[in-house]
Amino acid sequence: MNLILLGAPGAGKGTQGALLAERLGIPKIATGDMLREALRAGTPLGTEAKRYMDAGELVPDQVILGMVRERLAEPDAAGGAIFDGFPRNVEQAKSLDDMLGGMGRGIDAVVYLDVDDETIVRRMSGRRTDPETGVVYHVEHNPPPAEVAGRVVQRDDDREETVRHRLEVYRRSTAPLVEHYRTVGVPVHTVDGDRAIEEVQREVLALLDGRPT
Ligand code: AP5
Repeated sequence: MNLILLGAPGAGKGTQGALLAERLGIPKIATGDMLREALRAGTPLGTEAKRYMDAGELVPDQVILGMVRERLAEPDAAGGAIFDGFPRNVEQAKSLDDMLGGMGRGIDAVVYLDVDDETIVRRMSGRRTDPETGVVYHVEHNPPPAEVAGRVVQRDDDREETVRHRLEVYRRSTAPLVEHYRTVGVPVHTVDGDRAIEEVQREVLALLDGRPT
């Protein structure tokens, strides 16, 4: 299965994607995580991406597409993938179609996680990440266990003004993908993402039930 998780920053794509990857046995391809990893590793790509990420702007398409093309060629992605944070605009969506088409594959479904802006701004201020494992927590909704709590960090782009700008960029560039996928005939499932993490996961799994994995 090739599945796209679509939604505003903080809608829960990473959280749901990690649960789905485990459940479906296919990798999550998260371009934001890959960029942060490149930044931690001090690669030129990571350094170039940082200024866009800190400003809440999209990283140029050619950087992202090269990264995704390489990741899709890895053996664990042969049976499909869950795309989190990619594609981010119609150009990226068309390139993904071409990449998958070249492998005899296509997008099976899009899950659109719907969450309103004010909930998102509140969520982001409570997000914490474990720098050792990359696991994402929330101080209220999904608190880190005691042995991890001392080392969790807040993302640089989770400051309120940057989050609000990321929401604008999302509305301008990424939200039109819902209509794009409907137009090209890919099933788009809208899920209310403003519920408990487990409830959202149950609904997503129920919607995907019966699709080939
Ligand atoms: P990226 O890392 O992709 O960020 P994003 O899309 O803005 O999404 P987030 O990771 O912020 O949120 P999420 O939806 O995964 O939510 P999460 O599950 O963590 O991108 C960062 C930057 O990289 C971009 O701004 C851009 O510069 C660049 N970039 C990345 N991909 C790109 C691309 N393709 N093209 C160009 N540039 C690109 O949840 C958020 C918080 O809420 C967590 O604390 C979580 O625990 C909590 N939470 C989750 N679900 C629930 C729930 N149901 N109830 C309560 N709390 C919840």
